[in-house]
Amino acid sequence: MSRISRRRFLRVAGVGMAASTLPSFASSETARRPFSADAAGSCLAISSANGIASVAVARALVLEKAMRPVSAAVRGVASVEADENDMSVGYGGLPNELGVVQLDSACMDGPTHNAGSVASIEDIMHPAQVAELVMDHTDHINLVGPGARQFALDYGFKAENLLTERARGIWLKWRAQRSGDDRLWPLLDTVPADPALAAEPRPWGTIHCSVLAPNADLGCCTTTSGLAFKIPGRIGDSPLIGCGLYCDNEVGSAGATGRGEAAILSGGSWLVVERMRAGDTPEEACLYALRRVAQQAERGARWQPALWKDGQPNFGLTFYALRKDGLYGSANMRGGGRFAIADEKGARLENCAIAFGQ
Ligand code: GLY
Repeated sequence: MSRISRRRFLRVAGVGMAASTLPSFASSETARRPFSADAAGSCLAISSANGIASVAVARALVLEKAMRPVSAAVRGVASVEADENDMSVGYGGLPNELGVVQLDSACMDGPTHNAGSVASIEDIMHPAQVAELVMDHTDHINLVGPGARQFALDYGFKAENLLTERARGIWLKWRAQRSGDDRLWPLLDTVPADPALAAEPRPWGTIHCSVLAPNADLGCCTTTSGLAFKIPGRIGDSPLIGCGLYCDNEVGSAGATGRGEAAILSGGSWLVVERMRAGDTPEEACLYALRRVAQQAERGARWQPALWKDGQPNFGLTFYALRKDGLYGSANMRGGGRFAIADEKGARLENCAIAFGQ
């Protein structure tokens, strides 16, 4: 699940994390295993399982084109954004409750500690690329809705219909089964039995991709069509820095897929990176964040009981983490999940650690 990287890259690049850069505010509990100051990164890309092709592309772009990690991540996920069969991302994504596809995406660049995002953007197939333009060509971070769409058009993106016939058919079935005005959790059970949706009562798909370059620079992006049948304008964690993604070039990069509300309420990706800063391995950091989410969900279940079932959170959430020294890991809330990794041995899927369950 994790690997030791080649130290020579940092030495060659003259990049390192001096012990003095470790935070002085680390508690004795979190500082139990300080981050190795002379560790170095190899070239790796990690993503959610739907990014098995993306991680290979991202890694190749860094190695063969010397592309910065954030741009490699954005280009790596492009094939998933364009894949009509992935109904959680981009083209073919499941629409909101009015049948309109609204996409969320963000990216973050380690060396500059800059980020860009678009949320609730319509008609644009590659929101991650728009987020990258926001990052590089504005001093803003978040653009939303019509403003984000116009920004994309200004930069030459085409307006396209992103609602496929298959997604429209699923939305029609969902709409036919829907009753009442309540948008709390019980409505989530009213999803049609489409095989693509079998794993979740109501899918939160998404792709996250984090990339580490040989010089130990980091970058990441997350892109999604968000919660299926969401209230129009609902924004998930994916376009929110610190929630659906976060990157600190001194430490590592992380992202989330799954129930976005939980990643928002926990500041989940930021928490994973900060745990790595304090000495956690990536997998430990992901598990820590999931346990924090679980504590919060148990409290939340007092007003939304369906969040909690059989002594554990009743929703899916997965964190992915890549540390600057090349260690990587992932964990999910309830088991059964996999993530994609690409390193010098190629691209493959590995099992996520499990916070609850078997
Ligand atoms: N994690 C994706 C979303 O909740 O929108």
